[in-house]
Amino acid sequence: MQDFSKEFSGRKAFVTGGSRGIGAAIAQRLLDGGAEVVISARSKHEDTPAGATFIKGDISTVDGANALAREVLETLGGIDILINNAGSARVHLGGSAAIPDEEWLDALDLNFLSAVRTTNALLPALKESSNAAIVNISSGGPNAFLAPLLHYGAAKAALNTYSLGLAAELAPKKIRVNTVTPGLVVTPGADEIRKVFTDAMGVPEGAMGGMVPLGRMGQALEVAEVVALLASDRGIWITGQNYFVDGGMAAIGKK
Ligand SMILES: NC(=O)c1ccc[n+]([C@@H]2O[C@H](COP(=O)([O-])OP(=O)(O)OC[C@H]3O[C@@H](n4cnc5c(N)ncnc54)[C@H](OP(=O)(O)O)[C@@H]3O)[C@@H](O)[C@H]2O)c1
Repeated sequence: MQDFSKEFSGRKAFVTGGSRGIGAAIAQRLLDGGAEVVISARSKHEDTPAGATFIKGDISTVDGANALAREVLETLGGIDILINNAGSARVHLGGSAAIPDEEWLDALDLNFLSAVRTTNALLPALKESSNAAIVNISSGGPNAFLAPLLHYGAAKAALNTYSLGLAAELAPKKIRVNTVTPGLVVTPGADEIRKVFTDAMGVPEGAMGGMVPLGRMGQALEVAEVVALLASDRGIWITGQNYFVDGGMAAIGKK
């Protein structure tokens, strides 16, 4: 078994939405590998990694994203790893036409444009790194285009296209850009969203695990492990990819 305990030693990382859920697990995984880590969110939560520097802010606005990026660089003095993870949306059981216009805009701001703005603000610093990596956390598979979450799914689809284009643009600079698409992963935010669906269907909250070919929902750490691979030198020849970490749901779930 290889020892990865020091693979991020000397590397500086920023995880957006790192105060809980998947972002917190990614931040903790980078910390465990020896990275210096800054996380951002609007507030701290129970599972916020204590070893990371927390910067408070709303990343869904232009000013918020730019202010966070400035503070990240002031704190770290540079950056090697950027994880664009912050994301969420409200469910509208009435279907896509019931999603108010401002929520379409909010969904784009938080789930797509926050990544664009943060990346743009940090790109000059990332170009100074000898082995920079960006990982964008998306959504996909059968759940991403459900009508009650179509604003969210469409924003994540935009993120996927952006990630691929950015990977092509930055490859000559040796900056790698990859996407990780989690499936049904147990987190505080996603659990709340899924409860709206299970309540409406009249099934127990845990029922969704049965939709997953591997027979259960995922854990945030299982997503963080793939993000760590892509951010590390183990992933040095990988760019422009979208890894589904979903217990087989997107690839074989409906076949
Ligand atoms: N868990 C799943 O099943 C699943 C499936 C597919 C994709 N994903 C994606 O995985 C990522 C993480 O999701 P999660 O399940 O871990 O969600 P979560 O438990 O709700 O965590 C989301 C994180 O983003 C932060 N955040 C939310 N809105 C923000 C804002 N406006 N400004 C700054 N920070 C903000 C939250 O902190 P504050 O609220 O305190 O700001 C929190 O740290 C998201 O991009 C999500 O779309 C998750």
